[in-house]
Amino acid sequence: MNERISDKAALDAAHAVHPHTNLRRHLQSGPNMIVKGDGIEVIDAQGKRYIEGAAGLWCAALGFGSERLGEVAKQVMTEIGYYHTFRGASTPWVSDLSAKLGAIAPKGLDKVLLQTSGSEANDTAMKLVWSFWEAQGEPSRVKIISRHNSYHGTGALTSQLTGKANFHVGFGPGFDRFRYVTEPYYYRKALEGETEAQFSSRLAQELDEMIQAEGPETIAAFWAEPVIGSGGVFTPPEGYFPKIQAVLDKYGILFVADEVICGFGRTGEMWGCQTYGIRPDMICCAKSLSAAMLPLSAVLIGERVFEAMLNQSDKYGSFAHGYTYGGHPVSCAVAAEVLTIYEEMDLIGHVKSIEPAFVQGFESLRDHPLVGDVNAVGLIGCTELVADKQTKAKHAPEVQITARFEAAALERGLITRNIGNRIALSPPQIITAAEVEEMFTRYRDTLDAVAKEIA
Ligand SMILES: Cc1ncc(COP(=O)(O)O)c(C=O)c1O
Repeated sequence: MNERISDKAALDAAHAVHPHTNLRRHLQSGPNMIVKGDGIEVIDAQGKRYIEGAAGLWCAALGFGSERLGEVAKQVMTEIGYYHTFRGASTPWVSDLSAKLGAIAPKGLDKVLLQTSGSEANDTAMKLVWSFWEAQGEPSRVKIISRHNSYHGTGALTSQLTGKANFHVGFGPGFDRFRYVTEPYYYRKALEGETEAQFSSRLAQELDEMIQAEGPETIAAFWAEPVIGSGGVFTPPEGYFPKIQAVLDKYGILFVADEVICGFGRTGEMWGCQTYGIRPDMICCAKSLSAAMLPLSAVLIGERVFEAMLNQSDKYGSFAHGYTYGGHPVSCAVAAEVLTIYEEMDLIGHVKSIEPAFVQGFESLRDHPLVGDVNAVGLIGCTELVADKQTKAKHAPEVQITARFEAAALERGLITRNIGNRIALSPPQIITAAEVEEMFTRYRDTLDAVAKEIA
């Protein structure tokens, strides 16, 4: 078994090109080969088990491996395997999933456009935004405002929508339709003595000033994850979204909520928009939609945008957009079954019952000498590691604090998501209270071991 795996590792190093990986280093080091999953754990080639505290890429809502979903996939693959949704074609699996998703969507967002990935959903939503403004007779509204350190994908356009600076270098010049405002990173971006509410007001004012400086007639949409995920896990400070929404309403600017991570209970409600009182014009979702068992995403479209799509379709003859695999019947059947499982397990009730232990787990780390900041809601949270709690000074790069944490956590059978000095958890939504306790025991042990190592 191990020999076979090490052959696979060699093949991987020789041929597989890995995203978000140092490619030269990978040629030598090869992959971390994961060979099996079991509940919230994954198992590596040596048989070591890890709590997957990041649910893969914030997505494996039901954990790893599922006979039930495997049976559903097998049946649909056997019956049809593939059909498309172009030119009015459909399958029962597309109809069923669209209806199920429409039924749990926030009010007024029950038109469902199925896609394959989170990047695709955001890219499509951008085209719908531009199409909307053209339909309104305001084609000069093309600029989109997102936030620094937001994450919306890595397509040619979505990597520009993404506010992470490292996504904007190395691939040639960007496009001039994107603007970025300060992200709600209270720990480092708030002024001395500023309350959360004051910080939120200042960020809303910054947005208002940007809109005025650019010209409201040029601004098409504002884009936001309810909780910024891959940019560092920033839960919004008190009053943030209502204040932002008020500014957008003033200028009639569309609000697109990227719920690729936050959707399906991650923040304690079905949608992050419900947790934070956001009234979006569109929602992009993916990941937990299919519990990541198969690639699937969707854009949930609100009334005014859909009305514009109808008008554009009248004008141009059809909605000239779509992907071969959008609404793939096998993915749709699996996702519909995932939504049934969510109903059976009372997903939201379950997350709400686990949330106090999860948030308390993070809060209990606040007193740790390495921990400067803590952010947590629902089943997503993080700490920020600092060298000095009082001054918030970061560790010198040569300390390699995050790499040390990662290695020590793996030793203790815990996989976390590390973003700079912020160490995040977003476990599968099926996690139990006992598993949460075990996860935080390993997290704290890791912190203690790292503190000792660098003392
Ligand atoms: C909030 C958010 N939007 C979009 C994406 C992109 O999704 P994908 O990797 O499926 O293209 C991600 C991926 O992590 C994400 O976290």
